[in-house]
Amino acid sequence: MCGIVAYKGHKNCYPILLNGLKRLEYRGYDSAGIACLNSDNKLSITKRRGKVRELESAITNIDCDGMGIAHTRWATHGRPNQINAHPHTDQSKKIVLVHNGIIENYIPIKKFLLSKKVKFKSDTDTEVLVQLIGYFYNKGKMNFEKAVRAALQRVDGAYGLVILNKDYPDMMIAARKGSPLVLGLKDSEFFIASDISPIIKHTQQILYLKDSEMVVIDGKDYNVKSVNKDIALPKNIEMIDYKIDDYDKGKFKYFMHKEIHEQVDTIANTMRGRIRPDAVLLHGLSEYWDEIEASDRIYITACGTSWHAGLIGKLLIEKFSDTPVFVEYASEFRYNHTLIDSQTVVIAISQSGETADTLAAIKKANDYGAVTVGICNVPGSSVGRETDCGIYTRCGHEVGVASTKAFTAQISILYLLALKLAYAKGTISRASLKRHLDYDDSLKKIQSLFHQEKLIQKVARKYKNATDFLYLGRGLNFPVALEGALKLKEISYIHAEGYPAAEMKHGPIALIDKNMPSVFIVPKDKTYEKIISNIQEIKSRKGKIIIVTNSRDKILKELANDLIIVPRSNIYLFVHLATIVLQLFAYHMAVINKRNVDQPRNLAKSVTVE
Ligand code: AGP
Repeated sequence: MCGIVAYKGHKNCYPILLNGLKRLEYRGYDSAGIACLNSDNKLSITKRRGKVRELESAITNIDCDGMGIAHTRWATHGRPNQINAHPHTDQSKKIVLVHNGIIENYIPIKKFLLSKKVKFKSDTDTEVLVQLIGYFYNKGKMNFEKAVRAALQRVDGAYGLVILNKDYPDMMIAARKGSPLVLGLKDSEFFIASDISPIIKHTQQILYLKDSEMVVIDGKDYNVKSVNKDIALPKNIEMIDYKIDDYDKGKFKYFMHKEIHEQVDTIANTMRGRIRPDAVLLHGLSEYWDEIEASDRIYITACGTSWHAGLIGKLLIEKFSDTPVFVEYASEFRYNHTLIDSQTVVIAISQSGETADTLAAIKKANDYGAVTVGICNVPGSSVGRETDCGIYTRCGHEVGVASTKAFTAQISILYLLALKLAYAKGTISRASLKRHLDYDDSLKKIQSLFHQEKLIQKVARKYKNATDFLYLGRGLNFPVALEGALKLKEISYIHAEGYPAAEMKHGPIALIDKNMPSVFIVPKDKTYEKIISNIQEIKSRKGKIIIVTNSRDKILKELANDLIIVPRSNIYLFVHLATIVLQLFAYHMAVINKRNVDQPRNLAKSVTVE
């Protein structure tokens, strides 16, 4: 989704802003723009449809010693074109603004401004906001800060924004409600961005703006204030320890490929410090652990890949701890009649921690008095702040739009949570807990999986022209099938559906012919024989069969057109192994089909609109 980067300091703004925009490209966008206000009070604005490199080549004088704001836009209101690209200015062309989020009441405000003879250039809700600020500033004779506050108090919806005013050549104002914004500090330099990726290169001193907060930078000084009242708020500066490596592709061509390969390390990181030979330590839950343990019902809510992790979490928690778990898409949970009260635990899973639907679900759960638990990858994100307690997945910044390492980290956390709950409730023994927590060997098995990559690439080449796929698995591997299908859809634009393997005969089997491949996920577990029957049903209808298994049985060799054998493992590790195989398969399908793997069309990394 849209990205913001802004800079105020003694250095030339352009390289900092353009490099910042490149760091934000992973979020998905369709146009980009930049505005710089020089110390001689000259405001230059450049906007382009398309990529940041097109914006870069359109800038003629790449020199600015003042301050600047820049933006990547993912169209919501108005087509993705140069006019609708940010930054937007007010009618006097003094005030210039970049904005993430949606101004929901922009229509009545626009009508009001039109009645005051304000002329609009674009179709965006953002221009309405900057024109409203301009209206208060020019007509209402308010100072810059007051005009911003007056406008923000009249808008509904979400915003993360940064604003400049030609009359205030040493002032930058930023504000947030619903859309994240971070301030980076380094001596007398200020960096503002929608996430830390453009900032991390310059400083580790970060201030996460909270909802309804604004920051007013004036000269070398700054103040955090409330949007609603002119009162100063505390400056909660944090030192963050993200590694710059997370933002480099290293030897890989795509971030997604790098992130798939990182999973041995990221899973180890997720587990580190949380496992004793006979105990699970989840310090982030300590304060609410008694309520969590006593709870009679758990809801898991999330979107996309995180929702798939939730489905696995349900099966693990129910199996180990006998606690009923309901899993709902966050976008449904927020409107459905859900049975939540103060005895209910609501677990919200989100890689980014900023997904609008998930945040709305958390708000609903909080309003009903439930204990809210966040499982999230981004420290300081809204999910981390809005939930009562939580666990960070600690897998480092995930840049590829298609989530990979975050998924395996989420299921690792859910595994730990299920075991901890079960041990506390006495539904598993100490010996069994100990067995489950011994995972060193698992990491070696995951590492060895990458020896299969050439084979997986070969299989992808073979099916590169297929237009539809079925992904089939049972139990824990049904969500794995859903996730495998989602990965393929997202980055190679090939239609794929995930189903419980046995469900296939209740409808999808009608699709099967010699052109339709089915990917079967077949662990050697209690459903093994049943899945073999399902495979046979497809085989007898001439469907092509790709099998991902940990079994070396002859029957599978006979049935499969293509067989990918992963190391022998228990069913819990198998979920990780099969997932990684399907991630690699989707990745190679996308590369072979010449797709933009890290920035697939229409998709955004963090979906901050409803
Ligand atoms: C994953 O590959 C997707 N891009 C998407 O489904 C994602 O998982 C979903 O938007 C939820 O994001 P979150 O985990 O950041 O909340």
